[in-house]
Amino acid sequence: MKKIIAIYPGTFDPVTNGHLDIIERASELFTEVIVSIAVNRNKKPMFENEERLDMLKNVTRHLGNVKVDSFEGLLVRYAERMKANVMIRGLRAVSDFEYEFQMSLTNKKLNPGINTIFMMPNEKYTYLNSSLVRELASYNANVDEFIPPYVLKKLKEKFGY
Ligand code: COA
Repeated sequence: MKKIIAIYPGTFDPVTNGHLDIIERASELFTEVIVSIAVNRNKKPMFENEERLDMLKNVTRHLGNVKVDSFEGLLVRYAERMKANVMIRGLRAVSDFEYEFQMSLTNKKLNPGINTIFMMPNEKYTYLNSSLVRELASYNANVDEFIPPYVLKKLKEKFGY
């Protein structure tokens, strides 16, 4: 069977159970999954790149075919360097569609050989995103059900409680 290397790019500030749900299911579908943090100078993440790498490594360590990495620059060029044939994006709601559609078509133009595959997270995570988790945590609200325990620990350390 053809070896399929998939990249799952994102900001992961921090990784949530919605992301993890996609990573776990992708690891069953593809030979190798590279979860990669996009270093975007326009975004001011709360967690440093190293902290996000550490959290991703910790929450995916039970998945033998999942690697964690980060990249700068164009996603397509990174995918070429990693010899990936697939890019995974999560589609949570219709509101995600327009942006994802534009990004996927642009990436296809840059390299028609790399396909974007959209995966839907479990419906219990469709409304979830990292900013929501950050905001709730900043008010010391309960976010246990949205993030893995290790990320919860790191968030608590960040907010000093
Ligand atoms: N569960 C929970 N939340 C999810 C999720 C899921 N399954 N999927 C996405 N999200 C949330 C993220 O937490 C994030 O939330 P936030 O904005 O509140 O922090 C939000 O959706 C955005 O998702 P993310 O996957 O991080 O996308 P992005 O828009 O920050 O980055 C890249 C998208 C990295 C793929 C894109 O910017 C990129 O390719 N950059 C490289 C440069 C490039 O090639 N540009 C040309 C592209 S055509």
